[in-house]
Amino acid sequence: MIEIVVEDFKHWRVTARQALLAAVPPFGIRFRDPRDQPYLLAETELPPAAVKSKPRVPAAFLDLARSVAMHHDPQRWDLLYRSLFRIANGEHHLLDVEVDDDVREMRRMEKAVKHEIHRVHAFVRFRRTEDLGGERFVAWFQTEHDVLEAAAPFFARRFAAMRWAILTSIRSAYWDDNQLRFGPGVLRSEAPSEDTLEDLWRDYYASIFNPARLSVRTMRTEMPARYWATMPETDILPALIQEAESRVDVMQQNQPTSAAPFVPQSKSLTVLAKAASRCEGCNLFRHATQTVFGEGPPDARVILVGEQPGDQEDLQGHPFVGPAGQLLDRALTDAEVDRRLIYVTNALKHFKFEPRGKRRIHSKPTGLEINACHPWLEAEIAAVRPELVVCLGATAAQSLLGRAFRVTKERGLVLPHPVAGKVMATIHPSAILRMPEQERREAEYAAFVDDLRNIRSVLVA
Ligand code: URA
Repeated sequence: MIEIVVEDFKHWRVTARQALLAAVPPFGIRFRDPRDQPYLLAETELPPAAVKSKPRVPAAFLDLARSVAMHHDPQRWDLLYRSLFRIANGEHHLLDVEVDDDVREMRRMEKAVKHEIHRVHAFVRFRRTEDLGGERFVAWFQTEHDVLEAAAPFFARRFAAMRWAILTSIRSAYWDDNQLRFGPGVLRSEAPSEDTLEDLWRDYYASIFNPARLSVRTMRTEMPARYWATMPETDILPALIQEAESRVDVMQQNQPTSAAPFVPQSKSLTVLAKAASRCEGCNLFRHATQTVFGEGPPDARVILVGEQPGDQEDLQGHPFVGPAGQLLDRALTDAEVDRRLIYVTNALKHFKFEPRGKRRIHSKPTGLEINACHPWLEAEIAAVRPELVVCLGATAAQSLLGRAFRVTKERGLVLPHPVAGKVMATIHPSAILRMPEQERREAEYAAFVDDLRNIRSVLVA
């Protein structure tokens, strides 16, 4: 039996490939985890290549394998090799067989890993500390799977201007000087008391930048894993940070957020919409069902911008399909405008709401949230290049015309705009729906239809 101690996914990939070329069957090889008492394990050499042709492996398998590799189950490497061997030996479409036991197991692990990455993004709480080098933020977080390398880039994007560390018992991540680095894990039981955090953090920080400490493999050759827990540096590892929900998350509060890092350099609405579906540029994505991106012809001459998806839009994934959308449709028909010719979108792409019993009540976005989402609107405008952008309500107007613009004073005026060509703002259909007196509602509706007639003149020009 061949025994391999797997260092990480890259190492498994190289070794598994060698084993495949040597035609080693799954039952002839054991992949071991280094945490599985590596000092007791003897590695065995792989036999030389027996087949010449390079194995063809679908990219989807590699993506899946990357996630599975983060799972804590020590059997995962064997499972991956068995699946790889099957794929390379006649079962090229194995991943399509969702009922296959190996596929099911890999999917289960992938799901657990993705869930945990999401948990890290949602629940890590930083604590502010200072040392001679200035301000730092530290968080200790319990993870079951080795997800920190996958989860940390999110924090690097979001907290790019700060110096921070996330410590888990499996791995730790450090962001400094615009560089993300990883070091060994920190057991929570080794955490010193909170009041000594600042000294300890300084010492720990210094020790972690010793290059030899950055490679787990190097460390293992230099010192068996059973000694790690008693090494001098590990005595001083700061793994504190209480997880109490009451703790103020200083970074989250102070941090300006933006969708900008998520917006690709593309003029294709399909590419933009796909990227937007993964946007985590502000906190609104956490509770919304999905991103609701704009819809309509890519060469539309007019863009309509609402505020944000409502309850129905959030559930269905399309803009203006709920009650406000129905009123908008009626008004467009009355203004003799065909909605199918217009690109319809919102200033914010996620639904912001307050839960009230079983209902989700619309909540007004803050200026920070409007700004955070603005890059998506700008990208949509750059892709569609309309002649006229119509803002429905104050939020859309604020996104394009700034905070000082007042819809009540300047509604219906077609104004020049550096990015959007021409811009006009009018009332939001929800505002009409909310008006209690019928007479006022009807008057506002008529004025709304009048404003929308401006669209018709652009379309027929
Ligand atoms: N209100 C909006 O502003 N946009 C929608 O998509 C739905 C309701």
